[in-house]
Amino acid sequence: MTAPSLDRVLLVGFMGSGKTSVGRAVARRLGWRFVDFDREIEAQEGCSVAEIFTQRGEPAFRALEEEVARRLLRLDHVVLASGGGWAAAPGRLAGVPPGTASFWLQVSAPEAIRRAGVGAGSRPLLARPDAQEEAIRLIARRAPFYKDATWAVDTERSPVLDVAARILGILAEAYPGVISE
Ligand code: S3P
Repeated sequence: MTAPSLDRVLLVGFMGSGKTSVGRAVARRLGWRFVDFDREIEAQEGCSVAEIFTQRGEPAFRALEEEVARRLLRLDHVVLASGGGWAAAPGRLAGVPPGTASFWLQVSAPEAIRRAGVGAGSRPLLARPDAQEEAIRLIARRAPFYKDATWAVDTERSPVLDVAARILGILAEAYPGVISE
């Protein structure tokens, strides 16, 4: 039997779930490139995600996000961190190319708010006085989509390197030989 091939790792989950920091650690261990959807959008558009939300509105951001994600999901030997809302649309995770290992990084609303540092202005959807209620509402609405990821990893009380180690353990078991000693 041929071993399944692993071409890319995709991290999904709510804001503050650790997609970027965990993604960097996983990429480092695999010797792969790390790419963050939001940073790619910002590089392409020459402005911040917050500016895109304010100046063009969320639907314009979602269209850019979809287009950039389609391009990034064709890359090989890459760890991808999606934006928190990307996976939350019908068919997104089910439609990823073969060879993609997807992980849902789970986090509660209070912990997400604590980590995201509300008020920093970089996360327009949480820049509101009732950020925690909004986070609860969004997580509830998105969880049925996030759960289409191949694996779910709880990040609630775990440091970044522990979460990364758990992901690497899952990958080592599912794709023998992918991690060099
Ligand atoms: C969003 C999450 C953000 C960013 C944008 C919208 C969301 O990414 O894409 O502010 O809808 O959850 P992070 O999850 O990387 O913060």
